[in-house]
Amino acid sequence: MNNKKTVLICIGTRPEAIKMAPVYFAFLKSGYNTKLCVTAQHRDLLDQVLQFFKIKPDFDLDLMTPNQSLNKLSSRILDGIDGIFSTHKIDLVLVHGDTTTSSVIALAAFNRKIKVGHVEAGLRTYNKYAPFPEEINRQLTGRLADYHFAPGVNAKQNLVNEGVNDNTILVTGNTVIDALHIASGILDSGFKTDMIDQLIKTIDFNKKIILVTGHRRENFGEGFESICDALEALSEDSDVELIFPVHLNPNVQDVVYKRLSNLKNIHLIAPLDYPTFIWVMKQSHLIISDSGGVQEEAPTFGVPVLVTRTVTEREEGVNAGCSFLVGTNQDLIITKAKDILCNSSQNQKISNPYGDGDASKKIVDFFEYQDDRK
Ligand code: UD1
Ligand code: UDP
Repeated sequence: MNNKKTVLICIGTRPEAIKMAPVYFAFLKSGYNTKLCVTAQHRDLLDQVLQFFKIKPDFDLDLMTPNQSLNKLSSRILDGIDGIFSTHKIDLVLVHGDTTTSSVIALAAFNRKIKVGHVEAGLRTYNKYAPFPEEINRQLTGRLADYHFAPGVNAKQNLVNEGVNDNTILVTGNTVIDALHIASGILDSGFKTDMIDQLIKTIDFNKKIILVTGHRRENFGEGFESICDALEALSEDSDVELIFPVHLNPNVQDVVYKRLSNLKNIHLIAPLDYPTFIWVMKQSHLIISDSGGVQEEAPTFGVPVLVTRTVTEREEGVNAGCSFLVGTNQDLIITKAKDILCNSSQNQKISNPYGDGDASKKIVDFFEYQDDRK
């Protein structure tokens, strides 16, 4: 293998950091010259993850400004990453999923004729506005990429249907499971965060825990109002505790704090660091979330997820009976939540349909094999 090849792993947001940390570690272990670039599309949320995994970026574009528009963010990423491409010889860029960071960096790399690998490739709803702007971000990245690491067979089939060359696609499982194995191992060895201690002091974990997250742009406004109505109704049951780490996006913060502050049984808290979030997930009876990553993680702990979206690209969980699409309809959320809370036999562990924990190794092996053949 040509050990002088330089691989630049690029991330911008919390989930990209979680899902690319194991990929970064796998490349570091290999002979590749491995570099990490963060756009810092997210700042605090990203740094929480980097700190947990003890990762120090080689390049930090530090681009987050409060509530900046997608176009402003895109132009700043394009400009920032090109500064790196123009001063460093990069042979391969790896991007993840469907964020603005990923699609814009894939475009910038293409413009410089640098090869692009896309991790978590091929997820689709084929609905342009759901999720927005992620569906189009990932389709664009798919067109620009040279190598496609599909988390599952459905994702691979989507790419094949779109005309992507079969030889450039590898089904790996989702790297989120690799990350979960690392974090669970650390937690199982007795690791405890200060935040866990604090939660134990303020929340009654003998009650049924409902964990809530939300951040999707298509739910801003009416959708979030309706979810809040449902959460308020659910909180009237004195046997439950709702834990809601509120995303830092002001469009989420404003409505959630306005609607749900000071309600009994609802704990609005700052975003949790990754290990603490995993710990809370393990204690939960039910999760209500629009998150992609959470849909993938929850089956590991046998916790059902009400997905507050009308479509999902994570169909495996729905088909396996781990997650349920409820949209933002207040009545549907309440009915389904009560149903699950009353029927604890639904909290059964199954093998996680999203991966085995070896996706990152498969990605590195793919490149080593390609290079060995040259
Ligand atoms: C972004 C991604 C989304 C991903 C989500 C994960 C895009 C378009 N959106 O959505 O695909 O699912 O991250 O969480 O790529 N903010 C902070 N501190 C932070 C992070 C965010 O204050 O650490 C605030 C800022 O005001 C920022 C705003 O949230 O401008 C929105 O951030 P942005 O990355 O544009 O969108 P997200 O909703 O976080
Ligand atoms: N997560 C976290 N702290 C939180 C909420 C979520 O560490 O307070 C983790 C979660 O375990 C998952 C990821 O963040 O791995 C999901 O991120 P998010 O929902 O923001 O984005 P998405 O997955 O929808 O792109």
